[in-house]
Amino acid sequence: MKKVNVAVIGVGAVGVEILRVLKQRKFPVNNLRVFARSARQIEVDGLKYNVEAISDEKFDGIDIALFAGTEGEKGASRLYAQKFIDKGAVVVDNGVDFRLQEGVPLVVPEINKDKIKSHKGIISNPNCTTIQAVVALGGIYKSFGLQKFILTSFQATSGAGKKASVSLWQETKEIVEKNKDVDFDAVDKRIGAKPAYFSSQIAFDVIPQIGGFSKEGYTTEEWKVVDETHKILEDDSIKISATCVRVPVITAHSQAIYFTTQKQATLEQIEEVLEKSGGVKYLPDSLPSCLDAEGRDEVFISRLRCDPFEDKSFWLWCVCDNLRKGAALNAVQIAECLV
Ligand SMILES: NC(=O)c1ccc[n+]([C@@H]2O[C@H](COP(=O)([O-])OP(=O)(O)OC[C@H]3O[C@@H](n4cnc5c(N)ncnc54)[C@H](OP(=O)(O)O)[C@@H]3O)[C@@H](O)[C@H]2O)c1
Repeated sequence: MKKVNVAVIGVGAVGVEILRVLKQRKFPVNNLRVFARSARQIEVDGLKYNVEAISDEKFDGIDIALFAGTEGEKGASRLYAQKFIDKGAVVVDNGVDFRLQEGVPLVVPEINKDKIKSHKGIISNPNCTTIQAVVALGGIYKSFGLQKFILTSFQATSGAGKKASVSLWQETKEIVEKNKDVDFDAVDKRIGAKPAYFSSQIAFDVIPQIGGFSKEGYTTEEWKVVDETHKILEDDSIKISATCVRVPVITAHSQAIYFTTQKQATLEQIEEVLEKSGGVKYLPDSLPSCLDAEGRDEVFISRLRCDPFEDKSFWLWCVCDNLRKGAALNAVQIAECLV
């Protein structure tokens, strides 16, 4: 493989994981530059990286720019992606800014890596929840079609970035400290923590909202699953509905997915497809947890079962490291396809 000059923009939860994955997969890096808002040195797995403060003059000679800055007007992608492209780089972006833009490929390599070659400078990484669902269902879709799926996600705090995952630790420590002498059974005497990142305390609780509220009572995160899946599979006919919930887990999202196929399929046939689906580890006899999935590349699937009342309808449970396949690994796999 030809060696290339790589830039990583952002060194939060996803950016650090990108540095880790580049190293672990021996990505053919010639020169690596790392950018964030402020300059500093960071250490990842014992290796030191010089982080440069991003500025307009610094984008010469980069072949591939992996963006993991935040989203929106002040986010790195909106401010700098085009500037990298103008200097000859191909951008792989983790944020929401370009995902649904016409002409921007939205890629999960196991499903649609052929789209990469049509890029005009930017390739988007889907949202972590979408990637997980699409990897889990992609093989089933190709073999049997999908009429619909209904997904409930149980999303880790790191899905909202480094500060959000730290907030779970902070709140947990505060609660343990404050309740040292409180009787465990005395519900009315238990002392909570000041919310450290989310709208309410996440330690020992769940929050049934991810993103802002949007049309029809769904949140923006829930619509991402719908719109991004339609774009990746190039099939708007699939009826998709999601409920996304934040849970007190540091890393790895879990999903309960109910799906109905187009063609008739038996449980055994679905199992056969899952055994062969790229990026999937099907574990019929165990219950993979978030801690099992953390640091791993696969989408782990268990609890496949038929709906006893509805034809062609099934449930599955899946778990996936949101920072890895949900973001960094998917981006690096796209970069590998580019090289
Ligand atoms: N976390 C996930 O599971 C996940 C999954 C899929 C996609 N994503 C997306 O990936 C992106 C990064 O998420 P994250 O969770 O890593 O966020 P994060 O932990 O908050 O880190 C954000 C990083 O981006 C840098 N940054 C922000 N604005 C910048 C700018 N204008 N110029 C340069 N650098 C800038 C920050 O720099 P400083 O350190 O200097 O402040 C920080 O290093 C987001 O778009 C997010 O939506 C995240």
